[in-house]
Amino acid sequence: MDKKVILSGVQSTGRLTLGNYLGAINNWVEMQEKYDCYYMIANSHSLTVRNNPEELRNNTLKILALYIAAGLDPEKNTIFIQSQVKEHAELAWILNCYTYMGELSRMTQFKDKSLKHQDNINAGLFTYPVLMAADILLYKANLVPVGEDQKQHLEITRDIAERFNKLYGDTFVIPEAYVRKETARIMGLQDPTSKMSKSATNLNDVIFLDDSEETIIKKIKKAVTDSENVVRFAPETKPGVSNLMQIYSAITNKGFEEIEKDFEGKGYGDFKMAVAEVVVGKLKPIQEKYNELLENRDYLVKVYTEGKMKAEKIAIKTINEVKEKIGIL
Ligand code: TYM
Repeated sequence: MDKKVILSGVQSTGRLTLGNYLGAINNWVEMQEKYDCYYMIANSHSLTVRNNPEELRNNTLKILALYIAAGLDPEKNTIFIQSQVKEHAELAWILNCYTYMGELSRMTQFKDKSLKHQDNINAGLFTYPVLMAADILLYKANLVPVGEDQKQHLEITRDIAERFNKLYGDTFVIPEAYVRKETARIMGLQDPTSKMSKSATNLNDVIFLDDSEETIIKKIKKAVTDSENVVRFAPETKPGVSNLMQIYSAITNKGFEEIEKDFEGKGYGDFKMAVAEVVVGKLKPIQEKYNELLENRDYLVKVYTEGKMKAEKIAIKTINEVKEKIGIL
């Protein structure tokens, strides 16, 4: 039986966070054993905000290095850069013509980002989910492992695919979001009622994957909790501690009850140190490998060149099928 197909990606803007890692990349690593996986660096999606070109180029390679350092094996997966497989842009245009303004206007990410960047509400920001749909549908992915914030984009992808299939017959596979409950939404350390985001203005809210050991410890020690001083999972009433428990659980694979037991009679000070220890323990080997890989540019170029060739084969097949069906010569 053919393996199920997985596709996912991360934008190459800014520094990646512990949210990106636990919500997405860490889950991909497990999937590489069972599925036919496509992991891309979504550098074209990054253009919806203004970037320094040199920084964007470097960031793209940094994310590639991080994928490998986190455990994605370039032999087992197809790892590639979105902009290098031009069928993504081509299919995105076509799908734009099968997507309604009304449905794009309902996207919460578009609404949030337009509020944040009022001076640059560009058309790309509006049609961002259509490029994402093209990414997914080109490879006929069955499952898309993402954090909760991307679920709505998966729903619109399914709607677009179903609409197209209805008009032209079975063409696209209808993909499903794969969201791991435990890590669906890692929250900010200073504001545990909103998600940990790379664009946070308060740097203490976010653990960046390249933060030093001291910085990670400092940020976790400063994390907002409550006055009860009891380690108990209650996201509604104790969002800060519950978020730390989620982080701890994702890394140690311990359930919340077990964590509660382990820290019975101990206060937040002890618990925070334990969280910091597991986060540092998880990130340190990744950081070391990442720094090594960044020194080896030739290897990174080899990985993305091979990835492009593998991805392209599938992408060209799908785009040709689509063009044939809609009558584009
Ligand atoms: P991006 O770059 O914003 O985020 C990458 C992944 O990280 C997840 N994530 C989180 N998960 C849990 N808690 C958090 N605090 C947190 N912050 C971020 C996101 O849900 C995402 O899975 N549009 C996508 C990139 C993309 C893509 C695709 C993904 C482009 N094409 C095709 C899947 C399939 C994005 O902006 O991710």
